[in-house]
Amino acid sequence: MKILVTGGAGFIGSHTVVALHEAGFEPVIIDNLYNSNLNVLDGIRQITGKDFPFYEIDCNDPEKVRALFEKEKFDGVIHFAAYKAVGESVQKPLNYYENNLISLMVLLRAMKEFDVHNFVFSSSCTVYGQPEKLPVTESTPRQPATSPYGNTKAIAEDIIRDHVYSAPGLKALSLRYFNPIGAHESALIGELPNGVPSNLVPFITQTAAGLRPSLTVFGSDYDTPDGTCIRDFIHVVDLANAHVKALDLLKEKTEADHYDVFNVGTGEGYTVLQLINTFEEVNGVKLNYTVGPRREGDVEKIYAQADKVNHVMKWHAEKTMADALRDAWNWQLKITPQK
Ligand code: WQD
Repeated sequence: MKILVTGGAGFIGSHTVVALHEAGFEPVIIDNLYNSNLNVLDGIRQITGKDFPFYEIDCNDPEKVRALFEKEKFDGVIHFAAYKAVGESVQKPLNYYENNLISLMVLLRAMKEFDVHNFVFSSSCTVYGQPEKLPVTESTPRQPATSPYGNTKAIAEDIIRDHVYSAPGLKALSLRYFNPIGAHESALIGELPNGVPSNLVPFITQTAAGLRPSLTVFGSDYDTPDGTCIRDFIHVVDLANAHVKALDLLKEKTEADHYDVFNVGTGEGYTVLQLINTFEEVNGVKLNYTVGPRREGDVEKIYAQADKVNHVMKWHAEKTMADALRDAWNWQLKITPQK
């Protein structure tokens, strides 16, 4: 099956391209390189030995997207391409609504015109806000998003759901990711945050590599075992493999008008301090950090109940948080210019 991977030069996208190839799929990458660069394609080539078709296309460009669907006969689409910085989305909401939602609708229209029936969407646990009850299941009510970024994910899910019911034959799954961390064990691909990372693990690895003076832990007065936030940290390679399983599930589905949602998490929650301690232990490095005030908009604790993805999609996390932190550190060492 030939699969269009939008944002395929990105963090999760690049790891998914590798996983698709390993599972016998034929990935085609489009990316506008806004939050990535061409070196990622070298890393993918070194891992797989393959030069997958790559087109530098912005998914917001209907003509370019249409021409691509005309040229390549796709069997499915995995849609990663989106702006994803929570803080930035608060500063530039129109950019986020325009980019994340127009690109989605351009793709859905092209899929309808060219009769492409399988769609996997990159959603986020951020749609749950701060859940009342934990762990979070797929029927945990979505809460009003705490950022325009999160709102684009919730709106996108609704657009896909409504479109699926109007487009006979289209089958779509929204995968609600928890916190993706780590890198490929080869250290040939990983997370390439442009500028100051907002996510925890790249900030940790850059601090440990001496690129930043210290990490600030945002708050230690939460109602958790050590006072710091709880998250469900999932290895990016496990997450990539979940997309292969999602396509396998869609292939099995025959009924039209099929739409479903899956939480893709390990099912375990760890605190920020537990992650920091694990990072120091597995890598034998001391991390310079201080505890500061809470970060506006942070959810106190969230982690997945993974029963549905385990039993229906037949996927479960195989790597541990320690594996992810070892791989993240090896990747950081690889990309940090030696002094
Ligand atoms: C995790 C924890 C911080 C940085 C968001 C989006 C989600 C997904 C991942 C895009 C929090 C703490 C962080 C730091 C810290 N989106 N932290 N010091 O906010 O859980 O999820 O990013 O990929 O949709 O909602 O991820 O890594 O920013 O924070 O203490 O310097 O680490 O307070 O508790 P988050 P995060």
